[in-house]
Amino acid sequence: WSRTAEKLDGELHVGGLAVPALVANVNTPAYVLDEADFRARAAAFREAFAGYDVYYAGKAFLCTAVARWIKEEGLFLDVCSDTELTVALRAEVEPARIGYHGNNKTAMELRRAIISGVGRIIVDSFHEVDRIVSIAAETGVPARVMVRVTAGVEAHTHEYIATAHEDQKFGFSIASGDAFEAVRRLLAAPNVELRGLHSHIGSQIFDSAGFEVAARRVLALHARIADELGIELPELDLGGGFGIAYTSQDDPSTPERLATDLTRIVEHECRALGIDVPRLSIEPGRAIVGPAMCTVYTVGTVKEVALDGGATRTYVSVDGGMSDNIRTALYDADYSATLASRVSDAPAVLTRVVGKHCEAGDIVVKDEFLPGDVRPGDLIAVPATGAYCRSMASNYNHALRPPVVAVKDGESRVIVRRETVDDLLATDLG
Ligand code: LLP
Repeated sequence: WSRTAEKLDGELHVGGLAVPALVANVNTPAYVLDEADFRARAAAFREAFAGYDVYYAGKAFLCTAVARWIKEEGLFLDVCSDTELTVALRAEVEPARIGYHGNNKTAMELRRAIISGVGRIIVDSFHEVDRIVSIAAETGVPARVMVRVTAGVEAHTHEYIATAHEDQKFGFSIASGDAFEAVRRLLAAPNVELRGLHSHIGSQIFDSAGFEVAARRVLALHARIADELGIELPELDLGGGFGIAYTSQDDPSTPERLATDLTRIVEHECRALGIDVPRLSIEPGRAIVGPAMCTVYTVGTVKEVALDGGATRTYVSVDGGMSDNIRTALYDADYSATLASRVSDAPAVLTRVVGKHCEAGDIVVKDEFLPGDVRPGDLIAVPATGAYCRSMASNYNHALRPPVVAVKDGESRVIVRRETVDDLLATDLG
């Protein structure tokens, strides 16, 4: 839960507001974003990682208001599409404080990023090297870049969100020599300023061992570049991926502990290699926005299903589902849920919170003990839905993507409105 969330007489309150009254205005499903919590997490990273540049990974959740908060909290912003760049510029984030990611940026996207003065483009392939070199030569605008490397690490997370093993699409392999070759070509190009190496090992990671192995390999390459090409690259990015608590089973690290661990690892390696510590940066997304948001649903139907062995499971269907939270279906992710609108003394029963979409995998929360008298009209809140839920939301079954309501100090503001039928049908040309 976000830090201002509390239950009062059975009603969930966030940001000093009663959630039932709040959603009576905006309807459900709705994402409720605790602005104070978001800002506090951003500030905690900035303070714990003093001396680093902290980039908020906008892919976790981005809108203009959030980009503004990031700017106000003194963070940098990482985008990974032309439209995310548009949002960042619209929020007047200084272009020099924007990083641009992606494994398949088009020449048009790269040109716009370079002309806008983006602080760093993270280069991911030889085709992109060629595109950047020719755009920088042709426009005369310097391109500031980093080289994304694959450190060959097996991060302990879901396969789809692990990114540092060899057999996946991101980065230049260190082991094959591609990373060194990309660096060599970029250093030789006129008008291209290579800022450093970049490594991101995956997402929802709890154990710093993966970061340690990656840092060791990336710094070895950094030292080899200094040795053989005579250039000590000024920067190094260690990526994001810091895990959060989705349920009480998860025990995430704090920004302070992460900062201590990462700094110790890098300083130790640099000492051993006899090189200066480069300017470091990180890119947390989930750890800043994930816990700051919850999703509020209205219960529509309740059904009891017999399980093998005589037990039962209660299926509570809510008015959203995999269109507003695909993570359970896609990554087998765990979430929790709570009754958010009233007190209940009914004994808890094993419940599965499911959506309203046309497939059995449309599950929001796999297992939760909820009061046995949950009924249509009740509100259910699912915490920690800030990261990769609204940003990965879909229009499956022509669902209208829910709004994001920011709450703070007893005030609420819709920062992303609910889609309308007209929004959706505007692209349907009949
Ligand atoms: N930097 C890079 C280069 C990334 O690719 C990512 C995430 C991040 C930073 C931020 O990672 P975070 O701190 O948020 O874990 N949709 C998946 C996660 C995909 C992550 C993609 N890259 C999920 O819902 O778990």
